[in-house]
Amino acid sequence: MDFKEKIDKNNLPEHIAIIMDGNGRWAKKKGNQRIFGHKNGVKAVRDVVEGAGEIGVKYLTLYAFSTENWNRPKQEIDALMGLLVSTIDSETDTLIKNNVRLMTIGDTEGLPKNVGIKLKKLIEKTSQNKGLTLILALNYSARWEILNAVKNIIKDNKSTEIDESKISNDFFESYLNTKDIPDPDLLIRTSGEYRISNFLIWQIAYSELYFTDVLWPDYRKPDLFEAILDYQKRERRFGKISEQINS
Ligand code: IPE
Ligand code: IPE
Ligand code: MG
Repeated sequence: MDFKEKIDKNNLPEHIAIIMDGNGRWAKKKGNQRIFGHKNGVKAVRDVVEGAGEIGVKYLTLYAFSTENWNRPKQEIDALMGLLVSTIDSETDTLIKNNVRLMTIGDTEGLPKNVGIKLKKLIEKTSQNKGLTLILALNYSARWEILNAVKNIIKDNKSTEIDESKISNDFFESYLNTKDIPDPDLLIRTSGEYRISNFLIWQIAYSELYFTDVLWPDYRKPDLFEAILDYQKRERRFGKISEQINS
């Protein structure tokens, strides 16, 4: 029996987040330029989006470009932005056909204009879709998001002194980019790195973490299904004890 058939449909992670890492090393291993790895990373994205939709995952967040990634060589950044535009163009029909709703998190206003325009159009076009919600983290970092939330709370309360008791989890979350999106149940990172790299710090407080050595361009549906099976073996206790969970 393959991984997919073993998955318990009653215990699916509602939201999976992925740190797609290892494109550069994948290309280097093949004696190629880093951008060759990014291009092949798009194939993995296509397969994983399809796989997540197939088994009924509701939300999939993909870390595609961090605020720190601006520190890479300009040539690589330009190539990544170009790839983003060409991918939007080539994938639009498939996303619509597969009932995928596209969203973004991160400072999209800081992206090149043409990228922002394309994204906005595709977000509008897919906004009524009821299948998988695909969230691309672009020009995203968790510290940026949290500071941005604090700034907006201050802005919104300029005229009145804010009542300290108002600052609840729900209130704060309503200022995050991920407002209305449930926290990830499962966070996957590829390429054998064991770090979070400024991704969803607030939201992953209780996520199950899964690390794999597979480099992102090699990542496919069976890898995703294997991670979900591993997730399903775990007991999420949220601070309680096992007996409370099982009673
Ligand atoms: C992930 O692969 C893609 C992005 C961060 C845009 P990398 O480009 O980080 O590949 P490695 O980690 O250098 O192998
Ligand atoms: C994290 O990967 C960012 C994305 C996957 C977009 P990096 O390759 O940038 O992370 P570090 O710098 O190795 O931690
Ligand atoms: Mg990397």
